[in-house]
Amino acid sequence: MTQQIRIGLFGTGRIGQVHAMSLATLDEATLSWVCDPFIEGAKRTAAEYGGRVSADPEEVFASGEVDAVIVASPTATHVGLVEMAIDSNVPVLCEKPIDLDIARVDALRAKAAESDVPIALGFNKRFDRHFVELKRRVAAGEIGALEQLVIISRDPGEPPASYLAESGGIFRDMTIHDLDLARYFIPDIVEVSARGANVFSENVRQADDFDSAVVTLRGANDELVTIVNSRHAAYGYDQRVEAFGSTGLLHVGNKNDTLVRHWSARAVEAIGPYQNFFLERYAEAYRLEVAEFLRAVRGLPSRSPGFEDGRAALILADAAGMSARTGAAVAVDLAS
Ligand SMILES: NC(=O)c1ccc[n+]([C@@H]2O[C@H](COP(=O)([O-])OP(=O)(O)OC[C@H]3O[C@@H](n4cnc5c(N)ncnc54)[C@H](O)[C@@H]3O)[C@@H](O)[C@H]2O)c1
Repeated sequence: MTQQIRIGLFGTGRIGQVHAMSLATLDEATLSWVCDPFIEGAKRTAAEYGGRVSADPEEVFASGEVDAVIVASPTATHVGLVEMAIDSNVPVLCEKPIDLDIARVDALRAKAAESDVPIALGFNKRFDRHFVELKRRVAAGEIGALEQLVIISRDPGEPPASYLAESGGIFRDMTIHDLDLARYFIPDIVEVSARGANVFSENVRQADDFDSAVVTLRGANDELVTIVNSRHAAYGYDQRVEAFGSTGLLHVGNKNDTLVRHWSARAVEAIGPYQNFFLERYAEAYRLEVAEFLRAVRGLPSRSPGFEDGRAALILADAAGMSARTGAAVAVDLAS
């Protein structure tokens, strides 16, 4: 491998831009190929961050000019691109979810397990330094035995109808991040129950999806996790986590851009809305996610979540969907 890790980027949409931006801040990597069938997007990204342009993933792998790839294209393309990466012996960071269909994920599972090629999954919340610190302090025993975890995750506004149609539903698109975050603290989940509701969005209802959801997970040691999701929050992107244990509680609150607060006749300690959305709130986490992936590419120990984590999160999301539709709790076995 050359000194600089040469990266091929697939997809130059919302999250592809984030990864290109992160790469630009990391001295050890360089963008060598930018691939998107929407060639204007690829050209724009390459003009800003460098790299050769292609509309064809085969051309990128065949070039021999990539030491690793980042898959930031639509979900339906992930399995094919991860498989190409494995076949080409090229480490891959793949966005979540691996696929919407667990059967397709399972069909790739043996190949992924048998291969030495590092496969990292884009669960950025594991790299948020506040959640990392929370986990460190839970593990250090600051709250005794972990008994309950509460994850609140509300988007500022619903996605467009075109996105909803392809998203796979709230559990596989949005909750999946929180299901993985739950597993960051409690890897072995044995039961899932969920409720979904339609409280504000006709678009979401038309897509046969929920705009509001609550999921409860049971860990192997009877820990309980509650995940609260909404597709809208009037006050901005709401991201909170609370860990409750036998001797205390640890809490991560929301981030604001400013320390300035306003006292008036209408409110005290008033402050503007929270950071707008994931691009702002998790900018640093996305960068650390890529940096950690580069460690794996270099053959160094890495704490990137992998294929099995991506599979586990999808199993939990599917179980949540089933529970929300049937009303019954769903037992899961993530080990098998
Ligand atoms: N981790 C996160 O926080 C996060 C956030 C947003 C999206 N995502 C995931 O990232 C993926 C992309 O989402 P997005 O919102 O950036 O989508 P997007 O629609 O904004 O961008 C996708 C881009 O991929 C291109 N593309 C289509 N087929 C391709 C192919 N075969 N090879 C290369 N490029 C291809 C499209 O032309 C488009 O430019 C989805 O799987 C989504 O679930 C993750």
